[in-house]
Amino acid sequence: MPEFNGSLSSKLPKVGTTIFSVMTAMANENQALNMAQGFPDFSCSPELISLVNHYMNKQLNQYAPMPGVPVLREKIAAKTEELYSAQYNPDTEITVTPGATMAIYAAISAVVKEGDEVIIIEPAYDSYLPAIELNGGHPIFAELKYPSYSVDWDEIRKLITFKTRMIIINTPHNPTGMAFSAADMQKLQKLTENSDIIILSDEVYEHILFDGLEHQSIARYPKLAERSFIISSFGKTYHNTGWKMGYCLAPAKLTTEFRKIFQYMMFSVNTPVQYALADFMDKKDAYLELSAFYQEKRDFFQKAIKGSKWKVLNCQGSYFQMLGYDKITHEDDMDFARRLVVENKIAAIPTSSFYRKKNDNHVLRFCFAKQNDTLEKAAEILHKL
Ligand SMILES: Cc1ncc(COP(=O)(O)O)c(C=O)c1O
Repeated sequence: MPEFNGSLSSKLPKVGTTIFSVMTAMANENQALNMAQGFPDFSCSPELISLVNHYMNKQLNQYAPMPGVPVLREKIAAKTEELYSAQYNPDTEITVTPGATMAIYAAISAVVKEGDEVIIIEPAYDSYLPAIELNGGHPIFAELKYPSYSVDWDEIRKLITFKTRMIIINTPHNPTGMAFSAADMQKLQKLTENSDIIILSDEVYEHILFDGLEHQSIARYPKLAERSFIISSFGKTYHNTGWKMGYCLAPAKLTTEFRKIFQYMMFSVNTPVQYALADFMDKKDAYLELSAFYQEKRDFFQKAIKGSKWKVLNCQGSYFQMLGYDKITHEDDMDFARRLVVENKIAAIPTSSFYRKKNDNHVLRFCFAKQNDTLEKAAEILHKL
């Protein structure tokens, strides 16, 4: 293809390919264990696959209603009420989306205007920043405090100005595995009361919390919920990240604006998969037992690397384990992660890639949503370093 000759100035000049794609490509090239990108290496429920097949054969293959098929929105409403005692109206407050990433983009686009400030707490999932910038917003950066990765609410209070339009939170947290406590939520409530600040709460790991911790959904806090978009992902819950299915909960006024954007980005989401998910949501164990399932994997992995030089950081939720490598090398995390793939055949994510300023605490993120065999092989490699 001949090169485009016209002038073109990038709308995102500093953005390249995401680190997740880069590390996965490197892992494939080097035939390395891919502990980098956040996806399971085991299959999703065959029953769920049969349900999709069933609805495809039933000829439910045309456009779904824009906000999602009613039965799925009703099931989401029922689940949210049962788990978090919050009532969301399926008609006006719940939208089914093609994964969380698009929902995040639509929520930010729905409310952030030129010059608005949006507070991001780093390390942060990488889709927030470009979404803010493409909408003319100014990202304002707070930081989780290493090594506990706790939130410094005083710091956030100082960052709030009359231009603050949105605060983005993520619990349980990618990449650190930290989870917000009830005290965190109360502080957030105090900071935002009597303001116009909108909260975007990324809760894609809502069903993966360890050691008896409860997920502190925004939905549990009516005074926060009334100003919040809550985003969830079926992909994380049902081991099928490739299906890209999620949803957004928000009060009607926010949902109206969200849908104005969503309808022109996507219009609607895969119909047979929505019907299948609606049926499958009746099997509550699939999400209620997810924490125990992943806690076993976390514990298995932690035990397997015991005695190695890696420093195991606290992991309260999500399927990511942060490992410090100060006792192994002083290389920066990007160089070390690249060397690990090429020389040791294991891929992880350098944590600096979750920071705008590339803060480097010599920590790599490993995804433990893997079969125990894979975790064992990973531990074997990590012991050799
Ligand atoms: C914190 C966080 N938010 C959003 C997403 C995106 O979820 P989805 O695959 O449903 O778009 C991910 C995926 O890794 C994530 O870790």
